[in-house]
Amino acid sequence: MSDIRKVGVLGGGLMGSGIAQVSAAAGFPTVVREVSEQLCAKSRQSIEKSLAKSVERGKTTEAEREAALKNLRFVTALDDLSDSDLFIEAVVEDLEVKNKVWAELNGIAKTEAIFASNTSSLTIIAMAAASGRPDRMLGLHFFNPVPAMKLVEVVRTITTSEETERRAFQFVQALGKEPIRAKDSSGFVVNLLLIPYMLDAINALESNVASVEDIDKGMQLGAGHPMGPFTLLDFVGLDTAYKISEIMFTEYRDKRYAPPPLLKRMVLAGMLGKKSGKGFYDYSVNPPRVSSLGL
Ligand code: CAA
Ligand code: NAD
Repeated sequence: MSDIRKVGVLGGGLMGSGIAQVSAAAGFPTVVREVSEQLCAKSRQSIEKSLAKSVERGKTTEAEREAALKNLRFVTALDDLSDSDLFIEAVVEDLEVKNKVWAELNGIAKTEAIFASNTSSLTIIAMAAASGRPDRMLGLHFFNPVPAMKLVEVVRTITTSEETERRAFQFVQALGKEPIRAKDSSGFVVNLLLIPYMLDAINALESNVASVEDIDKGMQLGAGHPMGPFTLLDFVGLDTAYKISEIMFTEYRDKRYAPPPLLKRMVLAGMLGKKSGKGFYDYSVNPPRVSSLGL
């Protein structure tokens, strides 16, 4: 049984919206904080759409959908989250931005509240000092799309108390997710293995090993992956994938994590994947077709 009563989610993008949805659906009153009214509305719409789809598929009842929506609030003022027992941060993958959020939150949060980061590649210890509560800080790393992916990595850093880890673990179980324990090293378990794989696919494309479609098809049909690496990169967001690889490369100084030049060029061109309508694939047409990448 989780002793968490109320949840605050920072950031209502791809991940924050998914996390807020599963939290609200599991019965936790959940407040999402975004930086503008427009982004609050966007987050609400994406959750409404996802829940409607789940009802359509018969996975969620109409009553469960309504109850989940009743548990959700979208705000721009940080003060509106002050009574949360657990804060889950899902803002952009940038240490400075995240640490600014933690410092502000520490000023308004209850003493016993837990701070959890959904970071993909930063270490938790790099945020523990700014949080002002290093013993109540940990990583809770969810996977995209959050409503569909069962795993959450629970990351205890050297300052995290046992009590904090236990409370967070119970919360993850109350969401109906499967927690695993991971060490506080950049990329934890899954991204340590998954990021080099996705970057290798871009390197293979730049080396003319095969086309985008054939590399995707190869990994789907030859290795049983649910989606190929380019579809997955578009799904994760190329801006996020780029930031993750920069952070992991800086941490490990290992070329396996180095962002390929093509990834950087695409981000500079505003090709961020599904969320911007264009990445390795162009989503303005149905079915999506491969983008022209000037290779
Ligand atoms: N939002 C919410 N739920 C979604 C969804 C979405 N965008 N897309 C699919 N789902 C759900 C469906 O509702 C369905 O749920 P049920 O089984 O309960 O009915 C389930 O996912 C399967 O959906 P579909 O049958 O329509 O689609 P699919 O079989 O093609 O699977 C997928 C879709 C689950 C996304 C699958 O393609 C997949 O697993 N892809 C790989 C995803 C992955 O690797 N994610 C990790 C990314 S890396 C990361 O997250 C870490 C990081 O730090 C970057
Ligand atoms: P995103 O770009 O979709 O969303 C980030 C959101 O944070 C934006 O909507 C932005 O307006 C908001 N934001 C920025 N500063 C804020 C602040 N001070 N307060 C509140 N909101 C703020 O990014 P995302 O894909 O949701 O990623 C969020 C985090 O989750 C990152 O740390 C990322 O590495 C991690 N993550 C991403 C994935 C993925 O597949 N995309 C998977 C797991 C973890």
